[in-house]
Amino acid sequence: MKKLINKIDECKNRDELEVLRIAVLGKKGELAKAFAEMKNLSGDEKRERAKELNDFKEIFSAKFEKKEVEISEAELDEKMFREKIDISLISPKNELGGYHPVVETMNRIIEYFQKLNFAIEEGNMIEDDWHNFEALNLPKSHPARDMQDTFYFNDGKLLRTHTSPVQIRTMTREKPPIRMIAPGTVFRRDFDLTHTPMFHQVEGLVVENGDIVSFAHLKYILEDFLKYMFGDIKVRFRPSFFPFTEPSAEADISCLFCGGDGCRVCSHTGWLEVLGCGMVDQNVFKAVGYENVSGYAFGLGVERFAMLIHRVPDLRSMFEGDLRLLEQFKN
Ligand code: DAH
Repeated sequence: MKKLINKIDECKNRDELEVLRIAVLGKKGELAKAFAEMKNLSGDEKRERAKELNDFKEIFSAKFEKKEVEISEAELDEKMFREKIDISLISPKNELGGYHPVVETMNRIIEYFQKLNFAIEEGNMIEDDWHNFEALNLPKSHPARDMQDTFYFNDGKLLRTHTSPVQIRTMTREKPPIRMIAPGTVFRRDFDLTHTPMFHQVEGLVVENGDIVSFAHLKYILEDFLKYMFGDIKVRFRPSFFPFTEPSAEADISCLFCGGDGCRVCSHTGWLEVLGCGMVDQNVFKAVGYENVSGYAFGLGVERFAMLIHRVPDLRSMFEGDLRLLEQFKN
């Protein structure tokens, strides 16, 4: 019987172990046979033999279990070795990645304003009520606050609903002249074909001492910018309202899909709305303690730009990370 214990060590894999287990512990195995043979023994001899066999069973089983663990571990090691990935190997496919269309569009916008010497400001994603609303001429009772569904924290702080608070952060920190853009992430409680709870905006702000900045400056730069982004298009400015600018306007470009003839995308108007802008409201200057200054501001949605440039119909697809979509933007 001792020899059977040594046989455990000779097993090289699970199958061999299982064969041995059946041969020893199985119904017709060696141990069962030995117990059966006991019937010919006398009382004392029988007791002694039974103890011997039970001891054997215990030792065999313990050693067997240990071996089983050893073999599983060795098999796992071997499997891990076999399936290991050498990340230092050069892939024969050598596929290049590409920028996400939102990042690419953002970079292009930044590139334009950087060439004109605008500073790049970041601001904070977590804002307080004063920077996000109050100082932007949106007092608590203002109906325009309904336009933006806000994510609030328990302490009253919030996720900025637009990049406009970066105007306030910059103006309270610096003195005019200011020429800056603020590209960044913003958040609203909104989710459908054209809205996601997280998206990106670029804010622009120009402030000069004295009465020298006019709507003409704003019009010139935005028209030039929109042509840089969208190519050969027409631009028009439509009167609008924003609490932080007065007068306010929205800029439209001639429809990229029908060239202005009218189609489904432009709701048969021939025009696509692309940004909001205006002359900075005097109440905003008052809030940051500026006097005798003039300036303009604008704000745009980066996803909207990216969707128009790349003809992407559903905003949500921008954030699904589907490689089939993203691969189309490699260049
Ligand atoms: N903050 C506005 C929004 O999120 C966009 C905007 C419009 C910004 C006009 C401006 C502006 O600076 O002048 O809808």
